[in-house]
Amino acid sequence: MSLSLIAKSINASPTLALNEKFAILKQKGDPVIHLGGGEPKSKVPMDALLATASHLNTAEVRYAPADGIPSLKQAIIRYTEEFYNRKVDPENIIASGGAKQAIMVALQAILNPQEEVIFPAPYWVSYPDMARLCGAIPVPAHPEDGGFYPRLKDIEDRVGSYTKAVIINSPNNPTGAMYSEEFISDVVQFCEKKDLYLIMDDIYHRLIFDGKKRLNAYDYAKKLDENSKLIIINGVSKQYAMTGFRIGWAVANKKLIEAMSNIQGHQTSGPSVLLQKAAVAAINGIQSGVEALRATLENNRNVMLDMLNSFEGVKVTKPDGTFYCFADFSVYNKDSNKLSEMLIDKVQVLTVPGAEFGLEGFLRLSYCGTIKDITEGIERIKWALDLNSPNELYIGDRKLVRDWA
Ligand SMILES: Cc1ncc(COP(=O)(O)O)c(C=O)c1O
Repeated sequence: MSLSLIAKSINASPTLALNEKFAILKQKGDPVIHLGGGEPKSKVPMDALLATASHLNTAEVRYAPADGIPSLKQAIIRYTEEFYNRKVDPENIIASGGAKQAIMVALQAILNPQEEVIFPAPYWVSYPDMARLCGAIPVPAHPEDGGFYPRLKDIEDRVGSYTKAVIINSPNNPTGAMYSEEFISDVVQFCEKKDLYLIMDDIYHRLIFDGKKRLNAYDYAKKLDENSKLIIINGVSKQYAMTGFRIGWAVANKKLIEAMSNIQGHQTSGPSVLLQKAAVAAINGIQSGVEALRATLENNRNVMLDMLNSFEGVKVTKPDGTFYCFADFSVYNKDSNKLSEMLIDKVQVLTVPGAEFGLEGFLRLSYCGTIKDITEGIERIKWALDLNSPNELYIGDRKLVRDWA
């Protein structure tokens, strides 16, 4: 079969294969635990549900402007004022099918084939393939000190004549690391100086712990005019537990937003009006659910961290935000895909291999589920790996006997 070069360059996701395995086991009635999730388990805000229902009741669900309905743009303007202390115009905003599409159309609007996009590693799984979808080249930047907190030098060292953009995701998926103020300030000013686009993927910016202060890239920018190459990405998926609504947005200069809107107009004609109405209601509605989610996640993080810290050989860095813990299991297996497969096969716990995020020997463990899932899931992993634990484990009334070394 003749496929395009781009299609051939896009990788299948091992996570999807693991998810499929999980679904099959679950359907069989097996007691599987999902520690691989990327979405909060809290309920969609009532305001969002009522707004969706009320629009649906009109029985008129039509095409909408490709770059977002005016009321959503107004809600995003208010959000940008509240959380970024910045006044923007409707023409500075595009609403997309999730933060994912907002990032994708931004990359399509700025990248030429063979140009390069730099992002710190470990990174969100989609960045490399999004760059490849534009015919561009992903350039992961592994911090020189081997940790999760990059320094400007890690980015600087990878900049060349083909570099077009930098993507920063903080707090970060998969590590939960919230990058330092010094780094964010350095990178904003460095990109301005080098005339590079800077995409700030802020999708987890309200889900931060330990009283940490939210960082805002605009605070460090010197050239905030209509030629600014700073692009802010956000959305409703994580903070409002509205992953299925697929609404995200970008805030950027007007020319870029126009180009992105043209691209999006031909791709999808923009996100569904029904779901945009839900997003407006979530953004403008009662916000207590966001704080409740944040506090629950912080508590879940503490529980997971305590358990992992008592796990001999496993190295953990305390996540500052998100709902992921990225732990070093390399003492048990340096091949994270094999380790993850073994855990689903032997003790029916789904984890995401570190290789997916550009770092071998690690597993990403999510704490967005219940405390019961977290504690039972980690206990099972510990039993499977720690050969000092008893030879038998009960899952419900099912007895597992460890027959591997
Ligand atoms: C870092 C990061 N950016 C963007 C997204 C995409 O969010 P959305 O559901 O709004 O497309 C995710 C989702 O997992 C993410 O982890």
